[in-house]
Amino acid sequence: MNTAEMLRDTVLENEWHPVCIAGELNDKPLSVTVLGERVAVFRTKRGVHALRDLCVHRGAMLSKGWVEGETLVCPYHGWKYEGNGACVCIPAQSKEDKIPARARAEQYRCMEKYGLVWVCIGEPSAPLPDFEEFENPGYRPLPCGPYQVKAAGTRVIENFTDFAHLMFVHGGLLGHPDYAELPDFKVYKEKGRVYTGDVPIFQPVAHSGSEAKEGTTYVYVKEVFRPLAARLSKRDAATGQTLWILLTVLPVTEKECTVYMAVSRNYGFDVDDRQFIEFQNTVFEQDVWIIETQKPELLPLDLQAELNHKADVLSVAYRRWLIELGVKIGTA
Ligand code: FES
Ligand code: CO
Repeated sequence: MNTAEMLRDTVLENEWHPVCIAGELNDKPLSVTVLGERVAVFRTKRGVHALRDLCVHRGAMLSKGWVEGETLVCPYHGWKYEGNGACVCIPAQSKEDKIPARARAEQYRCMEKYGLVWVCIGEPSAPLPDFEEFENPGYRPLPCGPYQVKAAGTRVIENFTDFAHLMFVHGGLLGHPDYAELPDFKVYKEKGRVYTGDVPIFQPVAHSGSEAKEGTTYVYVKEVFRPLAARLSKRDAATGQTLWILLTVLPVTEKECTVYMAVSRNYGFDVDDRQFIEFQNTVFEQDVWIIETQKPELLPLDLQAELNHKADVLSVAYRRWLIELGVKIGTA
C-alpha cells in the first residue's frame, strides 16, 4: 500500500508515535512519515515541534529548510513558520504588509520522553504512561534504533510479546532449544494494557551435551500498553539485576515501520553502553529476519486464522485488544 492509498485509522492517528531519538534532533529539521503523512520535526530553544511537512505557499517540504530562532524556514521562498504553525515572515512582502491568516502550517502535537521524540497527528487518546525505570537517573536508560522494518508494526509488537521464540531465534543469546519448555503463565488485562505474570526462563551459560547445566534463571514480565508500544522486564532472580526494554513502533505505512527502543538497567554501570546497544541491535536483527517474511503480512485478527498455542496467551490477548480498539492499519 503506498501513501496515497493509506487507510484512515482513527485509533492509530490518535496515538503518540516515536519519530526519532531525542539526542539526534539538533539544529537540523527532520522529515518523518507517520501513517503515510509527511511530518517535519524540528527543535528550537523552546523545545521540539512538528508541522505538516508541506508549505502552504507552493507545497515545498519544510523539513528541507532550516531552523532560525523559533522558526522553521521554508527553503523555497523563505517563509518562516513558528512551532505553532503560524507564518511570521514572508520575505517577498514589505514588513508593513499583513501576513494572511491562512498562511499557517498544520501543527501536530510533539513531545520528548524516554529519550525519544513523539508525535501525534490526531488528538492523543491517552498520555504515555510514567515508567520510572526510563526516567529515573538512578538507572541507565539508553535509546536504541531506529530499525527500519518492512513489515506491519503489529507484527513487531506481537513478536515482542512472544516467549517461545527466545530459545530458537535468539538461541545462545537469550535461551537454548534444550530449555524451551515454558511454564504455564497468566495474562491480565486492565484498562489500557495487557500483561503477563512472571515467566521464568533458564538460560544456560554454555551448552555442553546432557550434563547438569550452569546458567541463570531470568524472570520476564511482558506488557503491551498501547497498540504499538510494549515493554518487558528481565530480572535475574538471584541478584535482582534487571533490564527493562521499552519497544515502540512508528507505523510509516501499512507494511513498513520504524522501531525504537529504550533499554534501561539497574546494574553494569561500568560496562560500556555501546555493548548494550550492540546486543540489542543483534537481537533485533534476528527478529527482523523472521518478521519480514511472515505471511500474511497483516496481523490476522480472525482468531481462528492461525493455530494458537497456550504459550501464545499474550499474543492472543494482544490480538483481542486490537479488535476491541478497532485498529485497522497493520491488521486483517
Ligand atoms: Fe514555501 Fe514558497 S513554497 S515559501
Ligand atoms: Co525476539
